[in-house]
Amino acid sequence: MADDKRRNKKVPGKGGNGRGQRSNGKPASSDKIDALDAFREDGTDERLTTDQAVPINDDQNTLKAGPRGPSLLEDFIFREKITHFDHERIPERVVHARGAAAHGVFRVYEPLGRLTRAAFLQDPAKTTPVFVRFSTVAGSRGSTDLARDVRGFAVKFYTDEGNFDLVGNNIPVFFIQDAVKFPDLIHAVKPEPHHEMPQAASAHDTFWDFISLMPESMHMIMWVMSDRAIPRSLRMMEGFGVHTFRLVNERGEARFVKFHWKPLLGVHSVLWDEALKISGKDPDFHRRDLWEAIETGAFPEWELGLQMIEEKDEHAFDFDLLDPTKIVPEELVPVQRVGRLTLDRNPDNFFAETEQVAFHPGHVVPGIDFTDDPLLQGRLFSYTDTQLLRLGGPNFHEIPINRPVAPVHNNQRDGLMRQAISVSRAAYHPNSIGGGCPVQVGRRDGGFVSHPVPVNAPKVRQRSEKFFDHFSQATLFWMSQSDPEKDHIVSALQFELGKLERPAIRERMVGMLTLVDETLATRVGEGLGVTPRRPDGPLNLSVPADADPKAHQPHRPKKPTRPSPALSMAGTVKDTAKSRKVAILAADGVDDAAVATMSRLLTAAGAVPKVIAPRLGTLKGARSGAVKVDMSLATVGSVLFDAVYVPGGAPSIAALRQDGAAVLFVHEAYKHCKALAATGAGTELLPEARSTDEAIVVGEDTQVAKIAPDFLRAIGRHRNWAREAAGKRIPV
Ligand code: HEM
Repeated sequence: MADDKRRNKKVPGKGGNGRGQRSNGKPASSDKIDALDAFREDGTDERLTTDQAVPINDDQNTLKAGPRGPSLLEDFIFREKITHFDHERIPERVVHARGAAAHGVFRVYEPLGRLTRAAFLQDPAKTTPVFVRFSTVAGSRGSTDLARDVRGFAVKFYTDEGNFDLVGNNIPVFFIQDAVKFPDLIHAVKPEPHHEMPQAASAHDTFWDFISLMPESMHMIMWVMSDRAIPRSLRMMEGFGVHTFRLVNERGEARFVKFHWKPLLGVHSVLWDEALKISGKDPDFHRRDLWEAIETGAFPEWELGLQMIEEKDEHAFDFDLLDPTKIVPEELVPVQRVGRLTLDRNPDNFFAETEQVAFHPGHVVPGIDFTDDPLLQGRLFSYTDTQLLRLGGPNFHEIPINRPVAPVHNNQRDGLMRQAISVSRAAYHPNSIGGGCPVQVGRRDGGFVSHPVPVNAPKVRQRSEKFFDHFSQATLFWMSQSDPEKDHIVSALQFELGKLERPAIRERMVGMLTLVDETLATRVGEGLGVTPRRPDGPLNLSVPADADPKAHQPHRPKKPTRPSPALSMAGTVKDTAKSRKVAILAADGVDDAAVATMSRLLTAAGAVPKVIAPRLGTLKGARSGAVKVDMSLATVGSVLFDAVYVPGGAPSIAALRQDGAAVLFVHEAYKHCKALAATGAGTELLPEARSTDEAIVVGEDTQVAKIAPDFLRAIGRHRNWAREAAGKRIPV
């Protein structure tokens, strides 16, 4: 019996090795996991049957008229198997098709009754099960994880009062202000319609054509061209609800709220050069990283943050709170950390859970409510509509992963694939036959009541005046970045715009950038052979037919005077090597004692060492010990690791110096600004200029334990960006 099968079968809710379990022996996320148990199917030690439970005797041959004869239509076993196979695929999501998910729990730190009556935010002793799906937006289901793109960050809370979905992204703003432009945006960014290229990439003409005519997207463009769009790990990204929502307390008092997720491991990214190479070496890099972290007990964690704004302050800002292209700077309204999300269990079946899960920003519980953000309002329609097609009918809420843990009773009936057997004869209300059940629920007993926001306005297709400042926050983002982050934005724009076939779009975009920052535009233009020119015509072509285009042009921006440090990744958590992957580069004759010591110290600090060698198997150690190889150089590259250690052992180093893949491995790690360590002869494999580099740690053969703390600190700092200029000179 396979190990994981046995685990699944014997232990309710899996987690058979004890990871992520509560003291009662169940995984922390067990409420929903227990509910899913009823639907788990496991063939281990079972007989093979048809879907009708008829035992199958021969699953190898179709029924034929004689050994060489034609197949017979009568073969119900064959027909059932093939018919099911023929129908195995469902449409992928129209956006966010590529994703990975995990189960977990959420726990609030303190009761939040003052702010909201949502039950799951009241009791620090209570854990709420969650299912979280991360995704890219533009690519197909099979596309690379490392696309330059926004990452979806969708959290389903299975609360006692029903499901609450916080369907957010890892970027706090969006491209467009009004949902009516969403199909245009997505048509522009998806592969071009004539030849379906490029896959999972925005570096093409239709995307930048659209963007260059939509100045409202400029703030988002700054984020998407920054390193935020190429995360090191899904575990190292922030999350944002993007829109302004409302929290409503028991007394019916409402406040505006912005939701944040703050990763405890900090916010870290890869370099674009790494992203390109990882896409080849391991296009499942993020998915695998999430999976392995959870399997090995390094549970990803985030804190839920709230930015609270009193109703009376609705108009106190330069921007409109309803505008999803704007942030509320954390320096203006601090983020209060109110609870913790922990992902502690991988799904058992990708299709049943990750693919069939249906998120919806309209899934809210009492105490959480919407605002009139016109992007949010459109989303409230879109998700159910698309899921009706994607999941094949109106009963997808009955799919196990979508079922609330709270009971569901209503007068909705029938439809394709209905699971529930409703026994009541009265599927209507009011009724007397069913005793008036199911009964409506008073507000005090937990019934959902929409916050009574007054609306008295003419019906118009317009936007609020403040929506038309499209550049101030784009400039704020740019000026808040550290120098390396600015360099990466410039390179990203040069890459993206350099791929365009139409020079006019490139020039228009560089012109648009002058309105964000002149230096930015000049630097981007330099790499493109474009002299930046301030646009002279109308900037915004997203204008109604009979409207005066002048009325729809961006307002003169209020140039920010001070940066917002919270927008830069430079100040993020940089003090832990936990779950970082470290390659130990070795060949026959390696100093096996050094390998053992460094492995032990890295593991003790929560890092994940792997021995990489020119071949698989076991290496002969210099001191008669043997070293097991985890991966061969043929299958990996240093882009898949956070740091590299080269132990001594003269024969090992002599062999590695002759091996181009090994030399490239170290040089690429150097170029990508990663922590490097070497002892004894291992130092010979390192690039020059190491004495001045704070992320290169060297020592004698006997000094492994002495240098390990410095190495771990360098890993914790993530990258030594100061090395970037030197790294660029290395031709790899
Ligand atoms: C702030 C803006 C937005 C954010 C943060 C956002 C976020 C997300 C996320 C995270 C998903 C993936 C859900 C999953 O993992 O299954 C998703 C899917 C989707 N989004 Fe959005 N989205 C935004 C805007 C919009 C708009 C304006 C529309 C349409 C008007 C839209 C339509 C969709 C659709 C159709 C899906 C696929 C849902 C499915 O097939 O299950 N989104 N969105």
